[in-house]
Amino acid sequence: MNQIVDELIRISGREFVFTDEETRIEYGHDETEDFSFPPSVVVKPANTEEVSAIMKLANAHGFPITPIGARTGLSGGALAVNAGIGLSMERFNRIIDIDEQNLQATVEPGVITQVFQDSVREKGLMYPPDPASRGSCFIGGNVSENSGGPKAVKYGVTKDYVLNLEVVLCSGEVIWTGANTLKNSTGYNLTQLMVGSEGTLGVITKIVMRLIPHPTHDLLMLVPFNSAEKACEAVSAIFKAGIIPSGMEFMERDAIVYAMDFIGEEPVPLGPDEQAHLLIEVDGNELDALMMDCERIVAVVEQFDCGEVLFAEDQAKKDQLWKLRRRVGEAVKAQSVYKEEDTVVPRYQLPELLKVVKQVGKLYGFRSVCYGHAGDGNLHVNILRDEMCDEDWNKTIKVGIRELFEMVKKLGGTISGEHGIGLVQKDYMDIMFSESHLDLMRSIKKVFDPNGILNPGKIF
Ligand code: LAC
Ligand code: ZN
Repeated sequence: MNQIVDELIRISGREFVFTDEETRIEYGHDETEDFSFPPSVVVKPANTEEVSAIMKLANAHGFPITPIGARTGLSGGALAVNAGIGLSMERFNRIIDIDEQNLQATVEPGVITQVFQDSVREKGLMYPPDPASRGSCFIGGNVSENSGGPKAVKYGVTKDYVLNLEVVLCSGEVIWTGANTLKNSTGYNLTQLMVGSEGTLGVITKIVMRLIPHPTHDLLMLVPFNSAEKACEAVSAIFKAGIIPSGMEFMERDAIVYAMDFIGEEPVPLGPDEQAHLLIEVDGNELDALMMDCERIVAVVEQFDCGEVLFAEDQAKKDQLWKLRRRVGEAVKAQSVYKEEDTVVPRYQLPELLKVVKQVGKLYGFRSVCYGHAGDGNLHVNILRDEMCDEDWNKTIKVGIRELFEMVKKLGGTISGEHGIGLVQKDYMDIMFSESHLDLMRSIKKVFDPNGILNPGKIF
C-alpha cells in the first residue's frame, strides 16, 4: 500500500493524493442508500497520461481501482467496494471544443452536465440528456451509466449522443473507440460497449458528443388526476393521438407533497383528491403548432378524469415546476433512507406496473413513492425504509424486490432504465439473463480486464 501511494504521488503529485480519513469517507459514498465504502487512497489525476500510468500501476499490483465521478449515482457504480484506489475524475473538467460546423463537441468526463448544456446552448445548440442531477453530475458518469432524464422521451438517452470515446485500458494503453462521424459501420461498436459499462471496462478520458439545434420554444403544463392509474393510462393515449412530448413525467401524490415540502415552495395548490400529476412539455420552433399540440393533449387527458390543467405562464413558473420534479429524489431521501428501483416497461404497460408495485408493497409491508419518466415507461420506485428493522430491510424486502422485478420482466420490461446495475441490482441479473448470457458478459469483462482490477464487484 505504501509503495502504491508513493507511486501515485510520483504520478499525480502530492497535493492530488489523499489517504486521510475525511477524504476517503467523502469519496466512499454516492447517493445510493446510506452506503459507505471508502477507498484506501484517493487520487485526482490531471490528464490521460496520468490515468494511463495509474492503470499500469494498479494492473501490475492487482490493486482495485474504481473510477469516481460526481457521486450522484443511485446504483452504487462509483463505490470502491473492495477499497483500493479511488480514481476521481474531477480535474477532467474542460470542454475542449464545440464544433459548430459539425454539431459536435469534445468534452472531458468531469464536466458537469448542465455546464455542458449551457455552453452549447449559447451557440444555439442542444445536448438533450438531462438527468435530475444535471446541476451536479458529471458527463462521464452519464456515459458510464447511460443516463436518461425527462427529455429522453423525445430525444433519446446518453448513448444516442456519444460518437467517440478516448479510453484508457487496464494495460495503460489509450484508444479511441470509434470516429467523429455520424455514421460508423467499422467493426465492433466498442463506443456503445463502453457506454453504460459502469467503469468496469476502461476509464473514459474524452467524449465526443453529437449535438442538435436547440428548439426555440417550449410549453409546459401540469395535469392533476384523481387516480394514479388513470394518469398512467393517459400517457400512451397522448402518443397515440400523434404527439411526442419533449417531457412526460409522472409524480404520485407523495412525490409532490415531499418535493413541495423539501423546496419550501407550493407552485400549485394540491387538491385533496389529487392522487398523481403528469408534467408535460412540448418543444419545437413553431409556437402556434405547440399551442395546438397542447390543446390536443388537454382533449386526451380530459378523457382520463383529470382536474384543472395548469399552464406555466412564464419561464419562472416553468423553472419552478421543473425544480419540483427534479428534486423529488432528494425530497424522498429527506423522509427516509430508500432503495431505488429503476423499473422500465413498454409504455402501454405503465398502469399495470404501478398496480404491481403497490400490490407487492402490500404483500411485503413496504411503502413506496413512485415517479419518473412516464413517456419512457420508466418508473422510479423509491422503497422507504421508515422504521423497518435490519432483517426486513436487508432480507425480506429483497424478496419483494425480486418478485417485483419478475413481474416487470413479465410485462416486457427490465430492471434498470437509466441508473445502471452497479452494486445494488447485481443480485437480480439472473432474472433478466440466463447463465450463458451472463457468462458471455463476464467473458467480455475478462478480455478488457484480465486481472479484475477495474471497478470490481459491479454488474455481476
Ligand atoms: C430522477 C432520477 C432519480 O428522475 O433519475 O429524478
Ligand atoms: Zn430519472
